[in-house]
Amino acid sequence: MDIFEIDGPVKLSGTIDVAGSKNSALPIQAAALLAPGVSVIPNAPNLADIRSFETLLESLGAKVHRDEAGLHIDATTIDNPVGEYDIVRKMRASICILGPLLARCGKVKVSMPGGCAIGDRPVDIHLRGIKALGARVYLENGYIVAEAPAGGLVGTQIFLGGPFGSTVLGTDNVMMAAALAKGTTIIESAACEPEVADLANCLNAMGAKIRGIGSPRLIIEGVKELRPVTYSVIGDRIEAGTFMVAAAITKSRLRIRNFDIDNMVAVVDRLQQIGAVIDRTADGCEVAQYGSIRPADITTQPYPGFPTDLQAQFMALLALAEGNSVVTEKIYPDRFMHVAELNRMAANLRKEGPSVIVAGVERLVAAPVMASDLRASAALVLAGMAAYGTTVVHRVYHIDRGYERIEEKLNAVGAKIRRKDV
Ligand code: EPZ
Repeated sequence: MDIFEIDGPVKLSGTIDVAGSKNSALPIQAAALLAPGVSVIPNAPNLADIRSFETLLESLGAKVHRDEAGLHIDATTIDNPVGEYDIVRKMRASICILGPLLARCGKVKVSMPGGCAIGDRPVDIHLRGIKALGARVYLENGYIVAEAPAGGLVGTQIFLGGPFGSTVLGTDNVMMAAALAKGTTIIESAACEPEVADLANCLNAMGAKIRGIGSPRLIIEGVKELRPVTYSVIGDRIEAGTFMVAAAITKSRLRIRNFDIDNMVAVVDRLQQIGAVIDRTADGCEVAQYGSIRPADITTQPYPGFPTDLQAQFMALLALAEGNSVVTEKIYPDRFMHVAELNRMAANLRKEGPSVIVAGVERLVAAPVMASDLRASAALVLAGMAAYGTTVVHRVYHIDRGYERIEEKLNAVGAKIRRKDV
């Protein structure tokens, strides 16, 4: 049970590198199941979630190893198309083996994902999508069972919109199943996240025929077979956004590398509203906050709107603004576990339905706090770097799921974070 001890306030300076995207690498690990042979992800991040997915792949029959060339997935033999409860309950993204295994093996069984700290996360749209491709789908002892028709899946037109807009992993699942289906599939209201586009580009590199990438209308012409691939994922825009906030909340200047700033237009817009200065560079950007932190209203939306995975981090920043801000969560209405913890650090946050009223305070004060999920824990680390005193963040394992050696990266630019095993 590691904790972080974080001394504050600190000033940061220097260059920080972003890892490959977690939310691209996870579905691309699943895509490897579509083609017998060895696929390689050279820049797969070294994260707990990626390692959990490796365990899942091995339980299906694949052979996985990592070396200096990257993460190797040998999917020649897939003889156990079952996503076990014990693995799936640890990581919801396991659900994205559903589409590839259905297409590859004709039958798949995967544990229904359980509850999640950030709110209700059903998979009904995933199931709606694969049913439309002709699969028979039923529940059995907490497992989703899906069987393709005798002649295989058949392409069709599918609307994948839901109550909160599009679904990222739902689009991934249906796209991967449709890649090997007979005929053409048209996905309407597809998710447009850069990670979905990254998966589509990877599938095309494997021999798929996908058009409309990056738009809400994906056209997938099914092919007979796909081939293994060596594919590098995009830089992690959520990690990049977290470091941008690190510069702003500590009123510092940082250079952040290895990501595409064009994937972050809504984020840059809010940071500029808050008073940060952002200079594009060839491989990322430079971010500086010189003056006071200005208030700003934020509403999370599907891409290209403001990402829900940066909501908590921006709330920590706006807690120090000169004025009031309103943060509204439109993707996961209950994604506010960080609110009480930030209030323990003398923030002034009040929840009102799907919004939080953020009344800016002059300073945050260190306190022992509890991480509850990946992005909430990142927000507590950012707050700890700005707060006066030593903040202790418990349950750091949450942050290790999505950030590679975050304390080492931040300490290298001037933070004072100690990891301790208690
Ligand atoms: C992906 O989750 C990301 N995870 C999440 O990042 C991210 O928060 C989310 O997209 C939204 O951007 C990965 O890529 C591994 P959704 P996903 O399906 O695909 C509802 C992080 O911090 N919905 O797009 O599971 C759902 O409840 C993680 O890295 C249905 O109602 O999210 C939510 O309200 C956390 N029925 C909304 O849609 C469905 O069948 C969007 O969810 C599917 C989703």
